[in-house]
Amino acid sequence: MTNRALGVCYYPEHWPEDQWSSDAALMVETGLSWVRIGEFAWSRIEPREGRFDFGWLDRAIETLGDAGLKVILGTPTATPPRWMVDKHPDMLAVDEHGRPRRFGSRRHYCFSHPGYRDECYRIVTLLGERYGSNPHVRAWQTDNEYGCHDTTLSYSSAARDAFRDWCAQRYQSVAALNRAWGNVFWSMDYDSIDDIDLPNLTVTEPNPAHVMAFRRFSSDQVVRFNRVQTEVLRRHTDAPLIHNYMGRILDFDHFDVGADLDIASWDSYPIGFLSDRIEATPEHKARFLRQGDPDMQAFHHDLYRAVGRSGKTGQPKEGGWWVMEQQPGPVNWAPYNPAPLPGMVRLWTWEAFAHGAGAVCYFRWRQAPFAQEQQHAGLLRPDSAPAPALGEAATVARELADMPQAETATARVALLFDYPSAWAWEIQPQGADFDYFRLSFAAYRALRRAGLSVDILRADGELSGYDLILAPGIATLPQVFLDRLGDFPGTALIGPRSNAKTPDLSIPLPLPPALPGLDATVAQVESLPPGISVPLSAGGAFAHWFEHLEGAAMITETTTAGQPAIMSNGKQHYLAGWPDDAAFDRLIANACTAERIATRNLPDGLRCRDTSTHRFWFNYAPDPVEIDGMTLSPAGVAWVPL
Ligand code: GAL
Repeated sequence: MTNRALGVCYYPEHWPEDQWSSDAALMVETGLSWVRIGEFAWSRIEPREGRFDFGWLDRAIETLGDAGLKVILGTPTATPPRWMVDKHPDMLAVDEHGRPRRFGSRRHYCFSHPGYRDECYRIVTLLGERYGSNPHVRAWQTDNEYGCHDTTLSYSSAARDAFRDWCAQRYQSVAALNRAWGNVFWSMDYDSIDDIDLPNLTVTEPNPAHVMAFRRFSSDQVVRFNRVQTEVLRRHTDAPLIHNYMGRILDFDHFDVGADLDIASWDSYPIGFLSDRIEATPEHKARFLRQGDPDMQAFHHDLYRAVGRSGKTGQPKEGGWWVMEQQPGPVNWAPYNPAPLPGMVRLWTWEAFAHGAGAVCYFRWRQAPFAQEQQHAGLLRPDSAPAPALGEAATVARELADMPQAETATARVALLFDYPSAWAWEIQPQGADFDYFRLSFAAYRALRRAGLSVDILRADGELSGYDLILAPGIATLPQVFLDRLGDFPGTALIGPRSNAKTPDLSIPLPLPPALPGLDATVAQVESLPPGISVPLSAGGAFAHWFEHLEGAAMITETTTAGQPAIMSNGKQHYLAGWPDDAAFDRLIANACTAERIATRNLPDGLRCRDTSTHRFWFNYAPDPVEIDGMTLSPAGVAWVPL
């Protein structure tokens, strides 16, 4: 396959210098070509303010580069050293209870602190000047995992001051802000934007519009923070700039951060995520305990492929996407940390390539015997003996060499994904189970059960070329989407709860969903507790959420009680509720029939993805499965020409 490579995350500062060259040689022998270093090394680069030690980093880059490895150099801004905190005590992020977070782990900074931003500018400038044209440094990573450990939101005084500026720019006047937020309610009107506090420590819930503004602001602060680094680095290097995003972290708009970068990467920990990041039955969690959820990785591959292509103006760019950290064995951070089934590291890697990844890097080279992550596996054990994943990485490297060229194919089906919707429904879920990711992921899983390859699009993304689009739970549908919908010749499944709010989190008038050409109105909404559902006449049910629709549009499905379940304008359908699995499967099968898209009913755990030339099969199930005359063992991977 073209441009498909393997790599590893390495911490030269953790190991004696005389070990570096044998480590590098073994990386090359394993078939790795990228090595990421440096992202937590600030205290070793600048042990005291203004006193630098670049010597070790020069030598590490040279040793790795001379061995034939390409270096991804991380900026160390996720781990400001202790002296920095003493210099800027108020740079620490403040939690919603008003408590500053402490030094002693990582990500202990507030995105809004101007002094810390200047320090980042300074260290990134020095790194850019020193290594920007180093022939071994072939890519850069900014910071590390923005948002990790709940660090996007900070209630510091720096954040408050910056929030006031942000509000002044967005609303232009306090009168406009009062109007937009509905501050007449409960006498919340402000006389001046400088009176506005952050929305924490209020007696009962703060105004949702206030919180939504704070969430938008906090996301913009991440964009701004990252941009300081990209602007500096672009002056010194032509190498691609990357950030490593996470699984199911939605606190900032990744499309906006991605617009300033060349490659979107993410950190894939399938077994950790199954245990602590997705809703599933205990049976499902037991069945996939050592494999990870069959759709969680693929969802993020497709999401970050879209983030990699997200251009500044919303126009797609030629960005790529990678897996920057791939789980190699048991991790240390989930409630329970089982080991992968033999073959899963290979499967996860191939699945990323089938979805178009340019590189997959394993985290980490050698398990560290010290500090927080001493229980986290690497490709090597702490005593340098090979851990199980090393052999699987070597296998993929050999297989890659023989693999025919294949490009990422555009899918026929697209799912719209929108970060502000995640904030809107977190602020005002209305039902304890209404979670935006959960809804999107339920739709995505259903598409994958039907054997479909899926593209994820931002809400203002280009629809042409797709035959089926799904837009569940998009709080505010962008005008450009509504305009394009009129000309969209395919099938569109919109809702539930789409176009339900203004950007300031109020109910719009005319009432939702206000889709062009569809005379349907949400007259009332209700959320449903677990175990309660609204059965549908055609099969399946709505769970979690149900909207009472009225209007003259055609009712194409009803509940068993005769209420409208879907109202339609030709091939555009508005869903009045959150479909359960059976309803989603049926709706998707019908839509695919209408669009002549072939579907299959895949056995539990078997998944596929098409490239331009091949269909890749992945068996996440703990037992062998049969497909098209082949038997795939557990953790089996197969690719067949299309
Ligand atoms: C990631 C992080 C790495 C390491 C890893 C452990 O979230 O970027 O630095 O902590 O998790 O699984």
